[in-house]
Amino acid sequence: MNNHTNDSALITGANSGIGFETAALLAEGDWGQVILACRTEEKGTASVALLEERTGRKVFEALTVDVSELESVDAAVKVLADRSSRVDFLVLNAGVMIGPPPVRNSQGVEMGFAVANVGHHQLTMGMLGHDLLGAHARIVIAGSEAARGDVPMMKIPDFNALAAEKFQGDLAAAMEAIACANPNLPFQGNASYAVSKSFSVWWASALAERLPSGMTVNAVSPGSAPASNFGRNMAFLARNVMMPMMKLLGPFIGMAGPLDVAAGRYVAAADYSDEQSGGFYASPAGKLVGPVELHAQPHLVNDQYRQACWEVLIKLSGGVGYPA
Ligand SMILES: NC(=O)c1ccc[n+]([C@@H]2O[C@H](COP(=O)([O-])OP(=O)(O)OC[C@H]3O[C@@H](n4cnc5c(N)ncnc54)[C@H](OP(=O)(O)O)[C@@H]3O)[C@@H](O)[C@H]2O)c1
Repeated sequence: MNNHTNDSALITGANSGIGFETAALLAEGDWGQVILACRTEEKGTASVALLEERTGRKVFEALTVDVSELESVDAAVKVLADRSSRVDFLVLNAGVMIGPPPVRNSQGVEMGFAVANVGHHQLTMGMLGHDLLGAHARIVIAGSEAARGDVPMMKIPDFNALAAEKFQGDLAAAMEAIACANPNLPFQGNASYAVSKSFSVWWASALAERLPSGMTVNAVSPGSAPASNFGRNMAFLARNVMMPMMKLLGPFIGMAGPLDVAAGRYVAAADYSDEQSGGFYASPAGKLVGPVELHAQPHLVNDQYRQACWEVLIKLSGGVGYPA
């Protein structure tokens, strides 16, 4: 690992699961500052205390942000600008999988997309616009094996077919409808999550083309890590039977890994080269854990999908595009 003693990292969703573990690994890896972006002040303060105790390092700072709400993200960017906090490693980790029924933010965006895609897009654009990212910043957005389209119950729809059938061929309208859980379309939390994680891949690829040279952005899946709290919104049986079983047995049958391995995948991306940008790194095809590979499934490298996704995220974030 490079020397990061003078570097600063910011992690969204840092109070729980993989985000919390990432914060610990960075501090243990001698990072100079680790900003814990959490939904409430209480969660941020409590996480600072827990992480100081665990790591013995006083490098943590809390930042309050509800990533699903545009006003909260704007306010957080302002706080960072006021603190003049420049970030060298931005880990866009917060994420949820909810429903059915779908839950939406105050703008009508389905919560998984509001957090993982719209809020993270807005936060990143805000930080770029206020010059809050270091010249060699590494940006990582949480990916998932679900984006590959080969995970059971997490199929990716054929957007062109959907657009042709229901949206007069308008691809962006079809994508927006899914991101807003349009009541005229079937909704499944799993499937919606898989599309949201595909959005993260398209977003990273679209952003990579726009970033100044020296900065990179990648979608990196932490891999299956049932020891996090990710199952909290799942149905009763999945939450209380499937997830605990996966946590217990998953590592022995090659279907799950511990939190430090999951977080380690993000941390490794802090040292990706300048050329490694715009990619999607995840477990090998058909697997949920293992060494990360660069993936390029046809839907993920579809340029029309990528452009439509970028347009939709600008629209859903109230017109926030790449800063001029
Ligand atoms: N665990 C896995 O097997 C797995 C596999 C592939 C990818 N991932 C991805 O890894 C990431 C981390 O998940 P995890 O497994 O660590 O789950 P987790 O323990 O549930 O952590 C999710 C984090 O996201 C935060 N979050 C959710 N909504 C938010 C909002 N509106 N504003 C701010 N923060 C918000 C949560 O904060 P609160 O505590 O306040 O809700 C929590 O800190 C997610 O993006 C997930 O999709 C996980």
